[in-house]
Amino acid sequence: MSKYVGAVDQGTTSTRFIIFDRKGNIAGVAQKEHKQIYERPGWVAHDPMEVWHNTREVIAGALAGSGIFGADLAAIGVTNQRETVVVWDRHTGRPFYNAVVWQCTRTDAMCRKLIAQGGQDRFRAKTGLPVATYFSGPKIQWILENVPQAKAAALKGDALFGTMDTWVIWNLTGGPRGGAHVTDVTNASRTLLMDINTLAWDDEILGILQIPPSGLPRIVPSSDSNAWGHTLIDGPLGAKVPVCGDLGDQQAALFGQACFEPGEAKNTYGTGCFLLLNTGTTPTMSTHGLLTTLAYQVGDEKPVYALEGSIANAGSLVQWVRDNLGLIKEAGDIEALAAAVPDNGGVYFVPAFSGLFAPYWRSDARGVVAGLTAYANKHHVARAVLEATAYQTGDIVAAMNLDSGVALTRLKVDGGMIENDLLMQFQSDILNVPVIRPRVAETTALGAAYAAGLAVGYWSDMSDLKANWEIHGAWSPDMARKDRDRACAAWKKAVERTLNWVD
Ligand code: G3P
Repeated sequence: MSKYVGAVDQGTTSTRFIIFDRKGNIAGVAQKEHKQIYERPGWVAHDPMEVWHNTREVIAGALAGSGIFGADLAAIGVTNQRETVVVWDRHTGRPFYNAVVWQCTRTDAMCRKLIAQGGQDRFRAKTGLPVATYFSGPKIQWILENVPQAKAAALKGDALFGTMDTWVIWNLTGGPRGGAHVTDVTNASRTLLMDINTLAWDDEILGILQIPPSGLPRIVPSSDSNAWGHTLIDGPLGAKVPVCGDLGDQQAALFGQACFEPGEAKNTYGTGCFLLLNTGTTPTMSTHGLLTTLAYQVGDEKPVYALEGSIANAGSLVQWVRDNLGLIKEAGDIEALAAAVPDNGGVYFVPAFSGLFAPYWRSDARGVVAGLTAYANKHHVARAVLEATAYQTGDIVAAMNLDSGVALTRLKVDGGMIENDLLMQFQSDILNVPVIRPRVAETTALGAAYAAGLAVGYWSDMSDLKANWEIHGAWSPDMARKDRDRACAAWKKAVERTLNWVD
């Protein structure tokens, strides 16, 4: 009997392979960062071949480091940075262009045109999303319009399109030698191309964006007992293992946190920060700037939906402070820098580097540091940097309470930044609810492993997964209401200063 399940986590800054046992404990792990390509202000790209090479390396590295063999794995799941797209040649496996990343604003003019013609919410009833540079459809359109070989191949049916899950699964299962060309419902729900009610690509939107359907992957459940393909004996696993789990990384974290009941929510503090609330088997439409998205689909069961609040910059702001300001050596140093002062000294940092995402959806916004006086120093700025993520989460929770009609009573958290006590305490203070972390903090990879393991019977049902979830730490609110109200009002003023920056 197989002893483990593996998951590829293809994230914005790095790719990881993690091997889990039945209790959800980590048995092996390897990670590798890839280059961020900034060709112009606001543009972000990745090299898809570098990402695929890194995927091979981390799989081999995690196996070698743990002494586990590919043949010991019951199944493989894949999770990924969502919305980022690749267009490649189905015969050679070569991408026609860099992967256009979710944070990239190069489709701004295209999106403005779509908005001018039909309004920002023209596709919301079908897709659950506003028109914004964040989503995949216009990114594919951009590549087809700007890369002549991609366009020519697409017209001949020789080009394949996909988000990063699709790219990784296609390569893992054989690439040009017959790789599976699939994406799961959660990833498809981020493209602006799928009808979230029918779970099918929408012909009308494809027509408007001029995307030929022949290049799109088949939409599959997140956990599928009909494996889409197998890894190759001559591939990085050195064994034939079914690939049968696929979730966008934020949905994978929701799954890994065992948020299986309507009303359960998690917030992941990664490159960005994403709060997802399970809303059950019918989609809840947002009227307060949130996204309606697929949470997961297990086999042929009814799909489960979520409301999502997306924040573009969280951990990436700390990296920016490290790399572009040089205020810290390691990202983790930000906590000590911030803790040297008791408060933010009146400084507020709104990191609208890619415009503002939820609940504002303003691509014309740009970052602002507000409230500076001669009193302010680097410690106050560091504090403002950390607080920014907590305030943005506060905005999302307020919108979510209004949309769902139910006030959040506690928040499950995960992701790299939850190591930061100062931030977690401040988060609890600003939300005025307890913030809770699970025993296994690698919930994203765990969620993808769960989806794959469920598909092959490694875990028998969702109750097995629930039993693995254990609380590991909690932060309780400790801020007077008047202080919270004053701080949130100042934050709101700072947010207003970011708007109308780009014409
Ligand atoms: O929607 C973008 C999101 O999936 C990126 O996640 O963890 O790379 O910040 P992360």
